[in-house]
Amino acid sequence: MNALQRRYLERLGIAVWESRRATGRVAERPDPVVAEAAAPGGAAEAADASAPSRDGGDAAAAWDALREEVLACTRCALHRGRKQAVFGVGRRDAALMIVGEAPGAEEDQRGEPFVGRAGQLLNAMLRAIGFAREEVFIANVLKCRPPRNRDPSAEEAAACADYLERQIALVRPRAMLAVGRISAQWLLQTDTPVGRLRGRLHRYGDVPLVVTYHPAYLLRAPAEKAKSWQDLCMVRSLAAGE
Ligand code: URA
Repeated sequence: MNALQRRYLERLGIAVWESRRATGRVAERPDPVVAEAAAPGGAAEAADASAPSRDGGDAAAAWDALREEVLACTRCALHRGRKQAVFGVGRRDAALMIVGEAPGAEEDQRGEPFVGRAGQLLNAMLRAIGFAREEVFIANVLKCRPPRNRDPSAEEAAACADYLERQIALVRPRAMLAVGRISAQWLLQTDTPVGRLRGRLHRYGDVPLVVTYHPAYLLRAPAEKAKSWQDLCMVRSLAAGE
């Protein structure tokens, strides 16, 4: 673990225990995912939704069409109460994709996922495993805010599902991180609680998937951050192709 990661962990309030083996394996080697994103153009392109993706024109057209569809969507009643649909943000060829639940009030206002307090913690969690927010792709199961931040209904999630599926197919991430119950249970089509889904490897199609607690939950239950750190380490290895 390098000094930067240690600082982030400390900021997250996580006690740092490091095995000698892990130190030897991880510390000195640049993370290939981060190295790729740090290449010329990498970080700048990351934030630019119009940046070319790895499949060139076809994929760019598919992204544009999908974005337009989402922004104009009226598939369920949630479109009536939204300020705007929240498409998702980040690298179109990200090695790591984060899937959350649904936009909250701030996300609905700003049109970007995870920009509130939970988003700040998510950014810190990503930083702790060596990813800038701009290097991953972040999306939600639902693209529109449910009233009073209630849980999405099964009908709303079903109506929206195809958008997330298409995003995953376009990004083709090396690994995905489902944050929170709604995302994990939707992606894995199960009603098993997050506490039993986290800490092990799942698959979404052929994409390795790790489940962890939602950052909003971690803000309320900081003692669970240590478990989340284990999940983050697992997904970091998967995203690095290890
Ligand atoms: N919680 C989520 O699951 N997604 C967001 O975009 C914001 C908060």
